[in-house]
Amino acid sequence: KRILTVIGARPQFIKAAVLSRLIRSSNWEGVFEEILVHTGQHYDNNMSNVFFEEMEIPTPDYNLRIGSGGHGKMTGEMLIKIEELINQLKPDYLLVYGDTNSTLAGALASSKLHIPVIHIEAGLRSFNMKMPEEQNRILTDRLSTFLFAPTEDAVLNLANEGINKGVYMVGDIMYDASLFYRKINKSGFGNRFKNSKFSLATIHRAENTDNPDRLKEIFKGLSQISMNIILPLHPRTKYKLNTLDIRISENIKIIEPIGYFDMLDLEENAEYIFTDSGGVQKEAYFFKKPCFTLRDETEWVETVSVGWNTLVGANSERIFASFQQYEHPEEHPNLFGSGNTGELILEILKSQLL
Ligand code: UD1
Ligand code: UDP
Repeated sequence: KRILTVIGARPQFIKAAVLSRLIRSSNWEGVFEEILVHTGQHYDNNMSNVFFEEMEIPTPDYNLRIGSGGHGKMTGEMLIKIEELINQLKPDYLLVYGDTNSTLAGALASSKLHIPVIHIEAGLRSFNMKMPEEQNRILTDRLSTFLFAPTEDAVLNLANEGINKGVYMVGDIMYDASLFYRKINKSGFGNRFKNSKFSLATIHRAENTDNPDRLKEIFKGLSQISMNIILPLHPRTKYKLNTLDIRISENIKIIEPIGYFDMLDLEENAEYIFTDSGGVQKEAYFFKKPCFTLRDETEWVETVSVGWNTLVGANSERIFASFQQYEHPEEHPNLFGSGNTGELILEILKSQLL
């Protein structure tokens, strides 16, 4: 069976690394044929190429070179080009990950042409319809035939929307990635910051970058943390900071976005993680690092319930107070499966095809 996989943004390269490797491994040879399409949503070397090279993700068969732009322009141009590709390549399935504009464009183009959609990371909800990601994932789930949910909560969210058919709880594919690449990671990147304890931060979410008050508050909160904070800066945030008068205190060390191996190394060596990223919240949990989430809500609610993740919003006092009072729990239950999510997905797809 021929699967057309559509990816385009950094976290999707990391998720695709797992499945694309498995599909081409000797165990699965001849079962599925994957055609990889990169929409070009992320295109800087350190937002795209670096992942393909170091994680040995197959070179995309097609790059649509969409680039940046408004949501409508990006999604619309992707839609046109993905439709052309589907008509030309006649896949049996179209596979998408997560909740970006590339995800929605792939799902919409495919479902209109009656090609079943496979959605990996289905069922996540923030219940904040202003988030572009919330719109993308709700629509994608509604259009999908196979919905691979990472957590029980995600399955419940789908059930609450009346979606029960085609839903499978398989664990989180980023957990597979972290286990696989951690074993072969020789980065050592964290060493260069290890003259004292450090924390790690990432900021890129639209609700933070597009609101100067929130961004200011976040930087104010981080400036009060009594240790160095390494901040690999997403280009979106970099451009915003250039236009705003925000004081970056001495303890915040801004660096360019880094590859996955360097990122895993920083996460493993950091004391605490401050982030508005979905993927980084999970990785903090995988590595047993306390996480302070710079948002008002999260899709990864179970990390908050067990006490390893704290929602601190974009409020400097809350960021500082939560950090000061924090004590991590004794327990660290397994929330994201057994690290075999990729295998489970292929097993389920295979059993459905026969
Ligand atoms: C996108 C996703 C978001 C995801 C994030 C992962 C949507 C709506 N959002 O957000 O869910 O968490 O990717 O990182 O799909 N830019 C560059 N170089 C690049 C890529 C982006 O300079 O290689 C800059 C451009 O100025 C661009 C801005 O970043 O306008 C935002 O990029 P975009 O892909 O629209 O959204 P992200 O914020 O990256
Ligand atoms: N990441 C990375 N380099 C960076 C920042 C993040 O490799 O400089 C990785 C991170 O480890 C995680 C993924 O990118 O695996 C998360 O992507 P991002 O935060 O861009 O998007 P989100 O998960 O919020 O959609």
